[in-house]
Amino acid sequence: MDEKREQPALTLQELRFAIHHAQILNGVTFDVSRGETVGVIGPNGSGKTTLFNCINGFYLPTAGKVLFQEREITRMPPFQRAELGLGRVFQNFGIFREMTVLENMVTALEGRQPLRTTFFPWAKQNRKNRERALELLGEVQLAEKAHLKAGSLSGGQMRLLEIMRTFAFGAELFLLDEPTAGVSPKMKEDVAELVRKLQNEKKTILIIEHDIRFIEKFCERIIVLDSGRVLLDDTPEKVKESPLLQEIYFGKRSPSSGLV
Ligand SMILES: Nc1ncnc2c1ncn2[C@@H]1O[C@H](COP(=O)(O)OP(=O)(O)OP(=O)(O)O)[C@@H](O)[C@H]1O
Ligand SMILES: [Mg+2]
Repeated sequence: MDEKREQPALTLQELRFAIHHAQILNGVTFDVSRGETVGVIGPNGSGKTTLFNCINGFYLPTAGKVLFQEREITRMPPFQRAELGLGRVFQNFGIFREMTVLENMVTALEGRQPLRTTFFPWAKQNRKNRERALELLGEVQLAEKAHLKAGSLSGGQMRLLEIMRTFAFGAELFLLDEPTAGVSPKMKEDVAELVRKLQNEKKTILIIEHDIRFIEKFCERIIVLDSGRVLLDDTPEKVKESPLLQEIYFGKRSPSSGLV
């Protein structure tokens, strides 16, 4: 048996979510192995973002369970999940725009460290954090922007900074909700490169994307959500070939889709 599959990073069991009498998630069940990269696609309104909200604790599911590294976290508050290593990346809401790019990274690194009590270790740690922050910024071509306000970066650069902050905070599982939405084609490639770096670091990644041709490059598995249910869960090749995919995007059920 594949060793990876014995260690789920994330397990969803019969997850349901309803709001204002509308059933948004209708029993979502799947698991993600440590180090796996899984794409999540589906028509607009199919429940992808709601699923992420249930995984990171913004929404409490009406039924079902969420397990992170085999520990049940269904009702745990979001900040505790983040401390365990569950990283949600928002579309530029997860950065401090008034702080410099460097300060954004340093605060993420500090967020993982215990409170410091004496001056000298503090100064040493501070220097180490700045060095590490600059090193991480260099990996996404942001080192030369270190002293600019984060709010002055382009949308794509902010996206890279936010993913890097999540990495610096120590995330093991990354929930990326349309990380390339609204960014330039060049920046899209930079985001793809960063995802590959996370993969090299053996991080587990769930990535929502509308462009299947973009995610098939680095996902070994794609889950298709439709009306809050898992419609397909297979390799990119099998998913692309499936008549069901064509049906939900181009068939009668969902005429207005932005996919492929
Ligand atoms: N807090 C909420 N209040 C009311 N309705 C909600 C709420 N959250 C989600 N919904 C509804 O749940 C459905 C699924 O929304 P969700 O944002 O999860 O879809 P999505 O698959 O991410 O779509 P998109 O591709 O457009 O981002 C939609 O009909 C949405 O209006
Ligand atoms: Mg969404």
